[in-house]
Amino acid sequence: GKTIKAPIIIIGSGYGGAVSALRLCESGKKVLLLEMGLNWEKSGIPYSNLLKPGKSSAWLKKKSIAPFMNIFSLTPFTGILDRLEFENINIWVGRGVGGGSLVNGGMAVTPKESYFKEVFPNLDAEKFYNHYFPLVQKDLKVNVIDEEFLKDCPYYKFTRVGEQEAHQAGFKTIRVPNVYDFKYMEKEFRNEVPRSALNTEVIYGNNHGKNSLDKTYLKKALETGNLEILDLHRVEDIQLNEDKSYTLNTQHIDTSGNILADKTFQCDQLILSAGTMGTLQLLLKSNALNGLPLNEKIGKSWGNNGNFMTGRNWVKPLSGGTGSKQSTIPVGGIDNWDNKEHPFFTEIAPLPMGMDVATALYLLINRVDKKGEVTYNKINQSLQLNWDKSNTAAMRENAKYFIRKMNQANGGTRSHLLFNNGFGADICYHPLGGCVLGEATNEYGKLNGHDNLYVLDGSLIPGTIGVNPFVTITAITEYCIENLIKQNEFA
Ligand code: FDA
Repeated sequence: GKTIKAPIIIIGSGYGGAVSALRLCESGKKVLLLEMGLNWEKSGIPYSNLLKPGKSSAWLKKKSIAPFMNIFSLTPFTGILDRLEFENINIWVGRGVGGGSLVNGGMAVTPKESYFKEVFPNLDAEKFYNHYFPLVQKDLKVNVIDEEFLKDCPYYKFTRVGEQEAHQAGFKTIRVPNVYDFKYMEKEFRNEVPRSALNTEVIYGNNHGKNSLDKTYLKKALETGNLEILDLHRVEDIQLNEDKSYTLNTQHIDTSGNILADKTFQCDQLILSAGTMGTLQLLLKSNALNGLPLNEKIGKSWGNNGNFMTGRNWVKPLSGGTGSKQSTIPVGGIDNWDNKEHPFFTEIAPLPMGMDVATALYLLINRVDKKGEVTYNKINQSLQLNWDKSNTAAMRENAKYFIRKMNQANGGTRSHLLFNNGFGADICYHPLGGCVLGEATNEYGKLNGHDNLYVLDGSLIPGTIGVNPFVTITAITEYCIENLIKQNEFA
């Protein structure tokens, strides 16, 4: 067929893609955004909740793919949650217009300044903490739960119990901000509006309440009239042309995953915002397939952001456990980051199963002192992840220490109900790195060795940031795109 030309193309509509689109459109540039997932808002199809997985719950799978208890059969559909399976780790990612913002728990955490400086020694931390972080907190609509509501709401018993137990064990707790509108949640509780967080909605999408990117950055970008989004368009590979433009081989699919058409796009400037795994897949595959030039840093400094899941059973079984009703939106965390031997942060996570299971779930975020590497296997044509038990050994020690201290102080057992041996070392929600800012790219995300190719997403962060990552991904993208526009990089 014929080639469709556009000056600027962005691949992927998660945080990196949405921020880039808005700032370019505001500066008067026309942008075409290609997204492999569905435009859910436009489709009008409702999201499923956790208890009844349906269309939105998985990307073209026959069975649900939550981290545990997948007893549900599905008809394959282009749902919003995907699970990428590697030998020693499973990585969950979002698909759809809005990327990871559609599936995630909305926890909007600014990294500790000392760790940010350690991870990004060359960035101006003062400018980030005085300008970029406040900017993205405003534009992502970050807010905090009202303490009075939290104190009494039966849906937050799991948080109150979790904090009480943490204090009993000598840990420090913190309040965690979120993009879920807590004023909306209060109305849900009073039955004035349809329920979402209080109706087990999360990871398969939220029909209400959550300020995902389709309601913030992407909405504003569309309002400029300069953005066109093509959903269900999956870019298969990228080719560098002699005139330094790029050709993208793309498949337009239907909601069952059938290919409707092969389409070819050509652009002067290309922004890769396909998420850490998507961007690495495109770069490494295109290199293997058609010799797209890559520098030797691509694939290096990959990490799971120290993600390590664990849990405890028999949590306060005699006093109603962690509660039969649970909000899906976490608001509590335990901050043990400054402990020299066992530095970690953990989310006090909900487990909204519609009954009291007297179980506490924790997603630990640890340092990543041993990084992994992503390569491309030409034979089976897929990404390969150099990552094994040795990469998570220190994380396991932290989890052991944490669970032991919590159980000693409060009772309870390591959760064998949720995980083998009580530990989910193989569960990753925060893949980061592989295309590190200032190493594989210049100081603003332009790929080394290219004139017109930019990477703006989680792959810029070297495998770790110490907290949930989307606030940092958004801020780094704001910084990069502002400077790239200032430098007149875009035609
Ligand atoms: P992101 O993954 O958001 O977007 C990439 C987009 O590119 C996707 O829409 C994808 O479909 C598209 N794409 C990929 N390949 C493509 C191709 N070849 N062609 C076309 N399109 C393509 N973080 C946090 O800070 N707080 C939290 O509470 C949580 N909770 C959480 C829960 C769960 C279940 C998950 C899976 C993740 C989280 N996260 C999180 C992580 C957070 O969502 C994640 O770090 C960001 O979404 C990453 O943003 P990016 O911009 O890098 O890519």
